[in-house]
Amino acid sequence: MKKGIEELTPKQIVKELDKYIIGQDKAKKSVAIALRNRWRRQQVEDDLREEIMPNNIILIGPTGVGKTEIARRLARLSSAPFIKVEASKFTEVGYVGRDVESIIRDIVDLSVSMVRNEQTVEVETKAEEMAEDRLLDLLLPPLPDVKDGENQLNDENDETYLKWKRTREKLREQLRAGKFDERKVELEVPSSTSPSMQIISPMGIEEMGMNIQDLLGPMFPKKTKKRKMNIPDARRFLIQEESQKLIDMEEVVREAIDRVENGGMVFLDEIDKIAGENSGSGPDVSREGVQRDLLPIVEGCSVITKYGMVKTDHVLFIASGAFHVSKPSDLIPEMQGRFPIRVELNSLTTKDFIRILTEPENALIKQYIALLKTENVKLTFTKGAIKEVAKIASEVNENAENIGARRLHTILTTLLENLLFDVPDSKLDEAKITDKDVRDALKDIIEDEDLSRYIL
Ligand SMILES: Nc1ncnc2c1ncn2[C@@H]1O[C@H](COP(=O)(O)OP(=O)(O)OP(=O)(O)O)[C@@H](O)[C@H]1O
Ligand SMILES: [Mg+2]
Repeated sequence: MKKGIEELTPKQIVKELDKYIIGQDKAKKSVAIALRNRWRRQQVEDDLREEIMPNNIILIGPTGVGKTEIARRLARLSSAPFIKVEASKFTEVGYVGRDVESIIRDIVDLSVSMVRNEQTVEVETKAEEMAEDRLLDLLLPPLPDVKDGENQLNDENDETYLKWKRTREKLREQLRAGKFDERKVELEVPSSTSPSMQIISPMGIEEMGMNIQDLLGPMFPKKTKKRKMNIPDARRFLIQEESQKLIDMEEVVREAIDRVENGGMVFLDEIDKIAGENSGSGPDVSREGVQRDLLPIVEGCSVITKYGMVKTDHVLFIASGAFHVSKPSDLIPEMQGRFPIRVELNSLTTKDFIRILTEPENALIKQYIALLKTENVKLTFTKGAIKEVAKIASEVNENAENIGARRLHTILTTLLENLLFDVPDSKLDEAKITDKDVRDALKDIIEDEDLSRYIL
């Protein structure tokens, strides 16, 4: 497996998470340990390794304090396949009877395209070379008996051949310089999938198409049709076709399944929504029923996917929920037993808000500064302004509803609305926000509780 989060030490993982998530040290520590344990398990010898079960975790905490954010960041860091599902979706109307095994099928799909992407990158140079040769063949058809432009005919003294070869190399230079970009060539493309989809979305839709073709392949001869396209499009298409030839799909699938079985992570969000008493009325699927459906996957079973059987015994599950109404102890006992680690996340304080506004690499204040910079406006906030925003966020959270750090979004959009509307017409090149500006902009709204419920 290529270097990913699994090779980071727990401390390094926490450090990476620290770049985006303020506080919640206990939660970061737990996920870091759980992830490192995956790697540790891989190093243990065979017999014992099979016995080591993942430390599934439940993250418990009020809304908007970073539970999902932690998962999202882990996913970005990780080279292991990672999927996030809302447990509550299995209780929704329309999902009645929807089998939870789809979680595993989805993560396998994801893993396959991850591995395939990696391999595509690996064969890229080679595929590009081959595509270029094929383009040249289209521009200057090979001499009879000359197949590759290189090895055939082999007669370095043959005048026609030498001349042809010189022309080809000249064309190659011109091709590289983009001289033929306007020219059209005719290519054989598979007619079952739309070629434009193949080009625009090399890994997404096209993969589906390929799989369908793989499935039907033995039954129907591959249908192709001729299609004219310009050189850059043709190049992209040919690169793709060549890299498909270079990649061993069986190997990709093997590797992908191995990654899911030994490194896969499933983030089960909103698990509290499937805990506790059934709502009684309404068309919801029984919550306990969903838990019972999920149980085999969490406990470890084999799921049939289009790539073959996948065992879930060592997939790591991280569940999360606010648990306002229900408690983890409302989950069925078997489920509780499968999530031995419980971590509580703290409510965020005014101090946390100040840090959240400014410190993370994607901090909101940084985002707005960057947005306005595109209009050549230098946006600055005084320390006092930031403190004021944080204070107001805490206040509104207390008085209206506690939505955690999400409150910062609503406050900032309200605060900056006029500025964002006026620029660039106002010909402003600087905007400095002070604590007074913050108060002025938000005072009326905060004082009117009803209004703040709607706006902030
Ligand atoms: N501790 C934090 N540090 C930095 N940003 C945070 C933190 N907590 C929340 N945020 C910000 O608030 C937003 C909402 O957080 P998140 O999605 O993690 O909430 P949650 O805990 O999953 O809540 P819910 O229970 O409603 O799903 C995120 O987009 C993130 O930017
Ligand atoms: Mg969430």
